[in-house]
Amino acid sequence: MKENVTLIKHPLIQHKLTMLRDKNTSSKDFRELVNELSMLMAFEVTRNLPVEDVEIETPICKTVGKCLSGLDVAIVPIMRAGMGMVEGMLSLIPNAKVGHIGLYRNEETIEPIEYYCKLPSDISKRLVIVTDPMLATGGSLRDAITMLKNRGAVNIKAMILVATETGINEVLKYHPDIEIYTISIDEGLNEKSYIVPGLGDAGDRLFGTK
Ligand code: URA
Repeated sequence: MKENVTLIKHPLIQHKLTMLRDKNTSSKDFRELVNELSMLMAFEVTRNLPVEDVEIETPICKTVGKCLSGLDVAIVPIMRAGMGMVEGMLSLIPNAKVGHIGLYRNEETIEPIEYYCKLPSDISKRLVIVTDPMLATGGSLRDAITMLKNRGAVNIKAMILVATETGINEVLKYHPDIEIYTISIDEGLNEKSYIVPGLGDAGDRLFGTK
């Protein structure tokens, strides 16, 4: 395992991932599972957020506790499937700002094409967490990170549900400074660049558009 890749393993996560993979899971349940998995992952992705001492008074006495300090978060979903991961993250980090990056893949060349980018104006000062359920060939995440860097982002992590070695290698080849969090590294890609065993088209399953 590469040092900037974190594979998050937990019985709850593994159980929910299996339900997510099941082709008989409805769109409604799929959305809820993505929500729950994103919330569980957000816990791990934000593990190193800085904290500072804060003096408070309990009903019993004065004490010093820890509070989050300084570093604000921006969640940036890659549209459209990445949007399914935002709500779960916001339930843990409600003050995060949300940017959007629009990329779609050319079905023939598989290359991503940029069509939208709207980010918080102070993106350079934030921990940027890019979300996309699937890291297949790596082209979309590679290009999304380039877009973020071109607009000033310097502290970037990616939160992925299902990844492949190919996708991870492609992203880290161009962006060795970023950290990738995932809950599975699957076997590989089929001839249409879908992840195997994967979970199918995450966007279609989230939004019921198949
Ligand atoms: N995007 C998806 O939604 N699914 C895959 O398997 C690969 C890319």
